[in-house]
Amino acid sequence: YKRITTKTLIEMKEHGEKISMLTAYDFTMAKIVDSAGVDVILVGDSASNVMAGHETTLPITLDQMIYHASSVVRACERALVVVDLPFGSYQSDPKEALRSSIRIMKESGGHAVKLEGGSEIKDSIKKILNAGIPVMGHLGLTPQSIYKFGTYTVRAKEDEEADKLLEDAKMLERIGCFALVLEKIPAHLAEKVAKSISIPVIGIGAGGGVDGQVLVIHDMLGMNNEFNPRFLRRYLDLYEQMTGAIGKYVEDVKSKDFPNTSEQY
Ligand code: KIV
Ligand code: NA
Repeated sequence: YKRITTKTLIEMKEHGEKISMLTAYDFTMAKIVDSAGVDVILVGDSASNVMAGHETTLPITLDQMIYHASSVVRACERALVVVDLPFGSYQSDPKEALRSSIRIMKESGGHAVKLEGGSEIKDSIKKILNAGIPVMGHLGLTPQSIYKFGTYTVRAKEDEEADKLLEDAKMLERIGCFALVLEKIPAHLAEKVAKSISIPVIGIGAGGGVDGQVLVIHDMLGMNNEFNPRFLRRYLDLYEQMTGAIGKYVEDVKSKDFPNTSEQY
């Protein structure tokens, strides 16, 4: 199995091959995602919501991200593993951003880091890149800034914000990011960004005119039955299937059907 690298992704864009990316936060799930042929596994700070049950991504710590990332790295033979820098681990200054990135690379074995933001964190991204650590950008809806935005609605609908986003994307390419996530922005703007830069643009709720797609694994498997954004396609209804299976187990235990004579020693 050929390992996916940051170079592979840039080649995929050159050849017009779309990039598939999903999140994973633990060994067993990452093993399934890697085996199924997903190109990039993101250890997202969405772990704060999906794994820990927090309302936002803000509470998850760097130590907790490293724990999730190291579990994922142990499972991956082919996928590139990208790890989110959590809120509070890079915003203070470039030195802190580099220190946090080094901890992720050393302690988890991940292959790259992702940070939210554009011009505001330019110096931090440069510092991380100078240390030889690949960086994926993240623009548009940036959930770590939820208390500034106030809502999780579509970003960059107005010209001013759209212009800044395009400028930020060009800057991220210029300073050396290997790829960029665009979250929840109009499809025409995302397509324009993807056409304006040569590094891959991976979208979530950003339409089909970009170079790849990312979804949160629990959402696309339908484990999360309360989350219904327009951009989400569900490939399974695991919430229903799992509650059904678990309900059947409870029934079988209560009725003494389980275990039967062949299921014991
Ligand atoms: O944390 C996450 O899952 C993400 C993706 C939605 C891009 O950042
Ligand atoms: Na994230």
